[in-house]
Amino acid sequence: MTGRVRCAVFPVAGLGTRFLPATKTVPKEMLPVVDRPLIQYAVDEAIEAGCDTLVFVTNRYKHAVADYFDKAYELEQKLEKAGKFEALADIRDVLPRQVRAVFVTQTEALGLGHAVLCARPVVGDQPFAVLLPDDLIWNRGAGATRQLVELAEREGAGVVAVQDVPIEQTRSYGIVATRDFTGRHGEISAIVEKPKPEEAPSTLAVVGRYVLPPRIFDLLEATRAGTGGEIQLTDAIAALLSGGRMLAYRFEGRRFDCGSRMGLIEATLQYALEDDALAEPTRTLMRAALSATR
Ligand code: UTP
Repeated sequence: MTGRVRCAVFPVAGLGTRFLPATKTVPKEMLPVVDRPLIQYAVDEAIEAGCDTLVFVTNRYKHAVADYFDKAYELEQKLEKAGKFEALADIRDVLPRQVRAVFVTQTEALGLGHAVLCARPVVGDQPFAVLLPDDLIWNRGAGATRQLVELAEREGAGVVAVQDVPIEQTRSYGIVATRDFTGRHGEISAIVEKPKPEEAPSTLAVVGRYVLPPRIFDLLEATRAGTGGEIQLTDAIAALLSGGRMLAYRFEGRRFDCGSRMGLIEATLQYALEDDALAEPTRTLMRAALSATR
């Protein structure tokens, strides 16, 4: 795999059933952690990694995502008139000028692999990153995508982010087997989607960050529906292994599964505790809440 990673794909066309009824009208990616929607954290992470073309794979119920990245003329005028310049900067900064946002539609929710394939006409023949915004990754240093991109460009190989999970959770993840694990990365020898604990090749679980070679698109075209009746990205990555190197990378940072209720609560607390203005009041609130429910 050669070339710089300039393109980031955000598959955001899932149904978000675990957050119903909220996700009946609010896309999961627009749920906030403190004061920013999940999609904003993912976009910032991709931009920090050097991406300047952002491809959002959406569906007809997700206008809110496109609206969010559009210019809000009326609101900007009102904030300007009211002298609320900080708020004005906040809404103007959602996307820097040099970054291009492209929206493509996934007409049917046929799975994550299919969603990634929908981005093919924009991505073309170059390596690209994939970020699932409901996996929120907090890190004091370089963001998770930057870490993956640096490794991919250095090694000339595709990379998937992994973390260790308890054995009983393997059925919720893609699980990889690796050889030659040194430092934070190892070469993937096998990858399976949501195996039962007794069939899992390891407890190294794939989380929502990938750097993929363009060859994945041909393999996705040929991929039939797998686990859960969906076209799985994992199956196409398994097919990639026969013709090239793919690395598993234990990223630096803490990942929150914001596709689940507990994950979103945990992330909200973590981000509040990291915020200068919110840390102390949040601690006080947590102490009070804990003693009131004891
Ligand atoms: P999930 O497995 O979390 O599914 O998708 P979901 O529909 O979003 O949420 P639940 O499980 O019903 O609550 C993983 C990622 O793949 C995207 C989702 O938007 C999410 O970012 N996805 C999934 C698509 O874009 N299209 C699909 O057909 C399926």
